[in-house]
Amino acid sequence: MKSKIYIVVLFTASFIILAFVSPEDPYFLISKKDVRLTIPKGFPEPSYTFKNNKITPAGFVLGRKLFYDPILSKDSTISCGSCHQQFAAFSHIDHGLAHGIGGRIGKRNVPALQNLIWNKEFMWDGGINHLEVQAIAPITHKDEMDENLDHVILKLNQRNDYRIAFYKAFKDSTVTSEKMLKSLTQFMGLMISANSKYDKYILGKASFSEEEKKGLALFRNNCASCHKEPLFSDNTFKSNGIPVNTILNDVGRKKITGIESDQYKFKVPSLRNIELTFPYMHDGRFRNLTEVLNFYRDSTKHSAYSDPLIHKLSKLSKEDMKLIHAFLLTLTDKTFVYDRRFADPNFSRKQ
Ligand code: HEC
Ligand code: HEC
Repeated sequence: MKSKIYIVVLFTASFIILAFVSPEDPYFLISKKDVRLTIPKGFPEPSYTFKNNKITPAGFVLGRKLFYDPILSKDSTISCGSCHQQFAAFSHIDHGLAHGIGGRIGKRNVPALQNLIWNKEFMWDGGINHLEVQAIAPITHKDEMDENLDHVILKLNQRNDYRIAFYKAFKDSTVTSEKMLKSLTQFMGLMISANSKYDKYILGKASFSEEEKKGLALFRNNCASCHKEPLFSDNTFKSNGIPVNTILNDVGRKKITGIESDQYKFKVPSLRNIELTFPYMHDGRFRNLTEVLNFYRDSTKHSAYSDPLIHKLSKLSKEDMKLIHAFLLTLTDKTFVYDRRFADPNFSRKQ
């Protein structure tokens, strides 16, 4: 009986101490100002509004802790951040196809995570239609984290630090999947990239070289009908003419809709931070931008499924593509990839 009381006292004391002594590096502290949502000038209204998921510093910090914690995978080896790396705009640059738990190789290239609140559909085929449920897919995918949701929740409930973090974020220390998904959404939803040289140019705060200006004009005439400004995607599914990968035989959008004409269509990806997110396409087949641009202008390589808009790209010269390339490099947003709010808080800067 007595020992039971001791245990309760000890548990409560450690709970209180941990709650008030923050061992965190001040660099990673998150203030109210850090989590204020500002819609960049010229951007449309977002699809995800946080109306039922108010962002707070504690909710964001919990989302970040979860994002960088391999506890979400079956054998605690892979975190969301293992595949989605900040310096690569939260994509992964080593390989074309995602590498998950036990070195298992997935079927698709890791996309960048940015400006997600403007997306209505997620994944290369749009198989997920709500940001809050998105995280369930990688957690339960056998080639990614291979976990089940109930087990993740059980593991988190057993951890004192998580019960404290959930308490701080939601005024209730019981870990539930709903709260876990909401906090991950607070973290990912604030990943907004809108401070590239292109953005500054549009706002009249930076100037473009002649090359970049010509590149932008060519881009607007040839690419922007799909890669629409300012998000650089029109959020539709199209075939950009890349031939079917016969090893993966990924049918793309058709897998979700069952509609024959959706065969081999994939989500038009944003081109923001494109310099950092190689390799390219849903299967990572092109290693660099030059390969992508050479492909677009070579009509002999285009598949029978190509969108009609792709045909006219073969009129572009090598010189035109050089100019478009120069323009694409203006979409790199250094403030985003070095934003301390999104950095891995487990990574010590004192080395
Ligand atoms: C093994 C590597 C891997 C891990 C781990 C991983 N992801 Fe992903 N993520 C991917 C791949 C690959 C895709 C694209 C999948 C597809 O299209 O079928 C993706 C897609 C996404 C998308 C959709 C982006 C878009 O624009 O459509 C989001 C959001 C996302 N992941 C968040 C997460 C979160 C949150 C976690 C952790 C719970 C996570 N990911 C863990 C590889 C990974
Ligand atoms: C008909 C619509 C369409 C047009 C026009 C178009 N694209 Fe694309 N683009 C896509 C689609 C769809 C994908 C993804 C295809 C896939 O992975 O299967 C893509 C992929 C890309 C990628 C790789 C992105 C990544 O994250 O992997 C780059 C770079 C790119 N396009 C640049 C351009 C440029 C530059 C132009 C103009 C010269 C252009 N695109 C014209 C639809 C289009």
